[in-house]
Amino acid sequence: MKNIKVLGYGSSLPPNIVTNDDLSKIIDTTDEWIVKRTGIKERRVSKDETTAELATEAARKALDMSKLEASDIDLIIVATSTPDYFFPSTGCLVQKEIGAINATCFDLAAACTGFVYAMDVALQYIKSGKFRNVLIIGAEIMSKVIDWKDRGISILFGDGAGALIISATTEEKISESYTKSDGTKADVLKVLGTSLIDIYENDKMISRGTITMNGQEVFKFACNVIIETITELLRKAILNIDDIDHIVLHQANYRIIEYVANKLNINIKKFFMNLDRYGNTSAASIPIALDEMYQNDMLKSGQKIMLIGFGGGLTWGGILLEL
Ligand code: UT7
Repeated sequence: MKNIKVLGYGSSLPPNIVTNDDLSKIIDTTDEWIVKRTGIKERRVSKDETTAELATEAARKALDMSKLEASDIDLIIVATSTPDYFFPSTGCLVQKEIGAINATCFDLAAACTGFVYAMDVALQYIKSGKFRNVLIIGAEIMSKVIDWKDRGISILFGDGAGALIISATTEEKISESYTKSDGTKADVLKVLGTSLIDIYENDKMISRGTITMNGQEVFKFACNVIIETITELLRKAILNIDDIDHIVLHQANYRIIEYVANKLNINIKKFFMNLDRYGNTSAASIPIALDEMYQNDMLKSGQKIMLIGFGGGLTWGGILLEL
């Protein structure tokens, strides 16, 4: 069995910022309500950027940091539910742009859990010895599938991409994963669509949204499965919570994170948060957070981190990794 090491982080966010006050001009909401109920203050909304473009920029940054050549990459997995095309996959579009000529490429759709599932697939490929260097990307243009007039949804989501390069290593490093799904709850959170729909007409946002959600049911589900995933990962790795340096939850709602911290008696400072600035970027939220943590010098070799995703499907899971 091979061990895993992170070699590079990268992210890419559209420059266009939509604040809560901007949203209060098109729907009946307030900055105060959104901040109190979710912690979100603003989000990025693509005007021109596509999912593949954001994914490519994040990938380039991760590749630069890794010091690998593009031709060293054996596998590219893009976690996305908002691809430019159903085929070719976003993975193949990234491959073309960065010149990863030796890579096998595919997309993986598991909503907001996508990055965790993709990382789990990558871990299994590396541990089996089939692939050595894997580029994992979470990339979403959620703004194109949102009904901007639906205040229960439009306040939550944002666009962006994040990337990680992981590699086989002979160093002793812990890596564990835990993944689950519950298709009986498929109706609770769902979306139709692609990232190529234009939501700006004469510089005004228009609704072409297809996402539907039972917010309260998702909220309760999220709290329960995060606790389950943290508990399972600690059990599998034979560690306790004090051994974990950072917990990076999918960035959905501050209150979900606060609930979990209180319930498990974990200091909230252990949970990295940037949802105030980016909202919920679905499969991209965890790698964007990781890149930001790296840029802020928060990630050190030997630290143990947990990455936990949850979302439509329903799906959930986590990765425990020693850096
Ligand atoms: O990746 C997973 C993605 N999904 C999630 O993470 C969703 C998880 N769920 C949530 O984050 C929360 O359920 C929401 C933020 C979506 C909603 O918060 P809530 O505390 O569950 O509010 P609620 O739906 O119970 O609504 C409370 C009130 C209602 O008014 P009444 O019936 O009490 O008069 C809503 O109509 O707040 C109203 N409301 C709003 N008011 C102002 C709902 N959305 C808004 C809004 N602005 N944006």
